Parts: sequence; structure tokens; C-alpha cells
Amino acid sequence: MHTVKAIYPGTFDPLTNGHLDLIMRGAKIVDELVVAVLRNSEKGEPLFTVPERAEMIREATHSFGNVTVATFDGLLVDFAREQKAKAVLRGIRAISDYEYEFQMAMMNRKLNPDIETLFMMPAEKYTYVSSRLIKGVFRLGGDVEALVPPLVMERLKAKVAFR
Ligand code: PNS
Repeated sequence: MHTVKAIYPGTFDPLTNGHLDLIMRGAKIVDELVVAVLRNSEKGEPLFTVPERAEMIREATHSFGNVTVATFDGLLVDFAREQKAKAVLRGIRAISDYEYEFQMAMMNRKLNPDIETLFMMPAEKYTYVSSRLIKGVFRLGGDVEALVPPLVMERLKAKVAFR
């Protein structure tokens, strides 16, 4: 039987409802979805450690039968090959995401032509949500409750203690 395994890679610092929405959509169309947290991110000082981020995703997705969580470093296409995955799933929220996503997809295709990038759009209500905005708004006392899973909200409160 022909099955499709896909990798949904990202920094996930932390998981948002936009990510979760995409995981649900992706899990409906592929047979196996591996949510993969990048270990060697160049995005600067993270708020949550990689194990904390992976744990939050695991908890938020534990009821999905075909979703697993992993961490990786190095090239995404190498990780995908190791995992015997045929596709990479990425979310596009707005046109502004497109250029970066297009470049990554083309570079990944150059590095490994056997791996396809699949783009999906999250629900409209999450099109402005990003981990970076969540952290910034939360640090300043803003309400982000509707934009992250409840367990992420709890971890944010515990982590950003000065609030
Ligand atoms: O959620 P993010 O931070 O936008 O995810 C970016 C990610 C993890 C998908 C990207 O940085 C990545 O794949 N990094 C691994 C290194 C790699 O393969 N680089 C070449 C891709 S152009």
C-alpha cells in the first residue's frame, strides 16, 4: 500500500493554535505526520527549551492517532530522508510568508528532489498569529488565551513569572 508520511518542521517557541490548526489539517490528508522541532535554531534566545516545546506539542496532539513529535538538527531534507518521509508540510498565513517559504521549498527541492513541500492555510482566525507575537504580547500583559492551547497558556504563565 502507498502511504504518505510528512514532516511538519518548525521552531514552535511555543506552539500556537495556528500550528495546531495546521497539524489537524495535515493529519487529515497524510497517513503519518511528524511534527519536528528544530534544535539548532538561529532565531536567537528561545523562551522554551527544545524538550519543553516538544512536550507541549506532544500533550496537545496526544489524541491524534497519526501524529508524532520529534526533534532534529542539520538539514531538514536529511531528517526527512532518515524518517523516510516524502513530504514537508508548511503553513502559509499571508502573502508575506510566501517569499521565504518559496525560497525554502526551492532550496529543499534542490537539496533533495524526492521531497515535496505541501503548503496549507490555517483557519482565517489564526492568520495573524505567530509565536513571536504571542511571546511579545504576553510579556507586555496582553491576553493571548484564545490564540494558544490551554496547556501552552499555563506554561507561559509559569515561565514569564514577572507578569
Ligand atoms: O517555524 P520556522 O522557524 O519558520 O521554521 C523554520 C524551519 C525549521 C522549517 C527551517 O529553519 C529549517 O528547515 N531549518 C533546518 C535547516 C535547513 O534545512 N535549512 C535549509 C532550508 S532552506
